[in-house]
Amino acid sequence: MGRLGPDDRPGYQTLETIVGYDRWAPTYDNGSNPLIAVEQQVMLDLIGNVSGQKILDLGCGTGRYSALLADKGASIVGIDPSTEMVAQARDKVSSLSSVSISHGTIDDMRFEDGSFDVVVSALVASHLPDLDPFLREVTRVLKSCGRFFLSDIHPYWAVSGHDYVEFFDPTGQEYRIPQHSHLIEEYWVLFKELGLRLEELREPKIESWLVERLPFLDGYQGLPLALILSASKGTL
Ligand SMILES: C[S@@+](CC[C@H](N)C(=O)[O-])C[C@H]1O[C@@H](n2cnc3c(N)ncnc32)[C@H](O)[C@@H]1O
Repeated sequence: MGRLGPDDRPGYQTLETIVGYDRWAPTYDNGSNPLIAVEQQVMLDLIGNVSGQKILDLGCGTGRYSALLADKGASIVGIDPSTEMVAQARDKVSSLSSVSISHGTIDDMRFEDGSFDVVVSALVASHLPDLDPFLREVTRVLKSCGRFFLSDIHPYWAVSGHDYVEFFDPTGQEYRIPQHSHLIEEYWVLFKELGLRLEELREPKIESWLVERLPFLDGYQGLPLALILSASKGTL
């Protein structure tokens, strides 16, 4: 098993979530993010065919899923509270007429009830102190029988003391954005209360292929890196 707890590098600065993503935005898509390397393929396999569907990409960041799902024939609304992430996303999808990206947060969504066939929220939940309002809004904006796909860093990391996501600017300065742990039971209880039927649960681990590609992960092999859930909205 790998090392537990926070990294012991000195000199990092801690940034509030939106300030952090504003600063990270220009370089977010550069380099190799191990979490995305394990998460994206699993998510795309689970999401499957979305041709003709209307999708909310909640916390869309630089528009990774907005662009990928537009390529599969869906129409996408992406929202994100970071002005700089929104700017990157708009740039990425500028040639895609089926995608619109707006500035916004989970707390101020003005979409009508039952607006979307699918809600995708990738790598956002651990930035939220409370899952309840988030999952309530997801359920509200989904159509009946609509599908919800969530990915996040596995709660194991925050529980073991690595309760932040880190990035480095081009000068080598390290920044950390705090994260919260949400155990699987928390999702399960809220899903049941809100009428979201859990369909799939995956915990992809750090495997040898990833350590070969990203040697800094040596020592972490076998640890769960992502948590991925899919659910459908039942009729209550
Ligand atoms: C790790 S990035 C993931 C971006 C994108 N979903 C992806 O997977 O590539 C996390 C994103 O969550 C957004 N975020 C943080 N708090 C949020 C909130 N309350 N509502 C919506 N998005 C939020 C951040 O601005 C950031 O763009």
